[in-house]
Amino acid sequence: LELDLINAIGSAEGVQALEDLRVSALGKAGSISGLLKGLGAMSPDERRTEGPRINGLRDRVAAALAARKAELAAAELEARLKSEHLDLTLPPRPARSGSVHATLQVMDEMVALFADMGFSVAEGPDIEDDFHNFTALNFPPKHPAREMHDTFFLRPDPETGERKVLRTHTSPVQIRTMMSTTPPIRIIAPGRTFRKDSDATHTPMFHQVEGLVIDRDIHMGHLKWTLETFVARFFEVEGIDARFRPHHFPFTEPSAEMDIRCDRSGGVLKLNEGDSWMEILGCGMVHPNVLRTCGIDPDEYQGFAFGMGVDRLAMLKYGIPDLRPMFEADSRWLSHYGFSA
Ligand code: PHE
Repeated sequence: LELDLINAIGSAEGVQALEDLRVSALGKAGSISGLLKGLGAMSPDERRTEGPRINGLRDRVAAALAARKAELAAAELEARLKSEHLDLTLPPRPARSGSVHATLQVMDEMVALFADMGFSVAEGPDIEDDFHNFTALNFPPKHPAREMHDTFFLRPDPETGERKVLRTHTSPVQIRTMMSTTPPIRIIAPGRTFRKDSDATHTPMFHQVEGLVIDRDIHMGHLKWTLETFVARFFEVEGIDARFRPHHFPFTEPSAEMDIRCDRSGGVLKLNEGDSWMEILGCGMVHPNVLRTCGIDPDEYQGFAFGMGVDRLAMLKYGIPDLRPMFEADSRWLSHYGFSA
């Protein structure tokens, strides 16, 4: 019995086979357990000789089981080390770090350029009320312009019936600033804006930088100089051929759109070349009604305001053909335009 058992243990392949052997020998109904149980029925003499023999047998079998178990564990570890072998000579994958989004980088550029001209940054909420987004900006009540902005309206408040909006432009920040500070005012308001619109040059969420200057004796010459200087610096050219084309905004009078002369044939933007004009921003002298609403006397103070689309200007400057991938969070797109770190 002993020799067979010890041999079987020594050649057991695997933990389960070994466990089966242990149960068959030392388990409750095992052969050696049976022998041990038999001791009770023996005479004291028999027990004196048989006891040590059977106990010795049990100890040797237990020792053989433990030894084989250790062998199997070592073999298993060996096999795992072989299969999980790491080739330390392989080149590492390049580490990829995050970066600032294209729009925010361009916005930072703009803020820096206006900061150089003495503007400070003002901010307002993305969710606006009708007063700041429209009424205070001289949009007549029930005027279709409210709908023209393709406004996202929030569900009306069940108690007051008030319908908040996702701000359609950054102009409400003009109102908040004029109502909370006294002139002179020189601010820019960069931020997110929202309109129901989606195609290659429009996304439902986009970004604007609004500018506002209020002081004594401010006139359109100041507006023109500020914008021409900014645009030339933004596009890194000596000077810019610009034209101010009459336009209408409820909150400015007179109002204009600024166009720059450029050649875009062949997909490359060449500024101050060719004979096509491209609209890049809206601007004008702040309407007296707007000043009055904000508690500023239009006979004492005048000012100008402007608003431009950050994403649109980024497209132009960096030759991005479609606006929609800007907000699809694909890091390959960002690195393609050289924006990632
Ligand atoms: N708020 C205007 C728009 O979003 C832009 C603008 C700002 C025009 C300030 C004039 C003055 O279309």
